[in-house]
Amino acid sequence: MDENLKKALIGTAVEMREKAYCPYSNYQVGAAILTKSGKIYGGCNIENASYPATICAERTAAVKAVSEGEKEFAAVAVAVSGTATGYPCGVCRQFLNEFASANMEVYLINKEGAVVEENFDCLFPHGFKGKDMD
Ligand code: THU
Repeated sequence: MDENLKKALIGTAVEMREKAYCPYSNYQVGAAILTKSGKIYGGCNIENASYPATICAERTAAVKAVSEGEKEFAAVAVAVSGTATGYPCGVCRQFLNEFASANMEVYLINKEGAVVEENFDCLFPHGFKGKDMD
């Protein structure tokens, strides 16, 4: 992947982490999605007093992209406020799978700025897609 785009994607995820609304967990997450058309959409986790109503950063970013007509994701970055690598939760993996391109790159950034590079197919093998209902 182009180094400048990768930098921009990671930078957006880190910036979005600052926007997290997380008064219950105090765990900030920022996400950024690069679409096939070359645009970047960011999102953060948004918690709720009714805990299950919380939305993760990855899904916030995905909802923003898809609602702008972007249905093909080329890469995703997730920046967390913890020292451990913040892997996307199961619900977010299923949600991203709907729009993920083949071999989609995933960048995971911790609070120190360390970047772990993953491949979405490795994080979510044999994911269920609409075509499976044919
Ligand atoms: N969270 C995310 O934003 N993304 C994930 O993939 C895992 C968890 C958020 C949800 C909640 O606000 C906080 O992290 C703790 O679970």
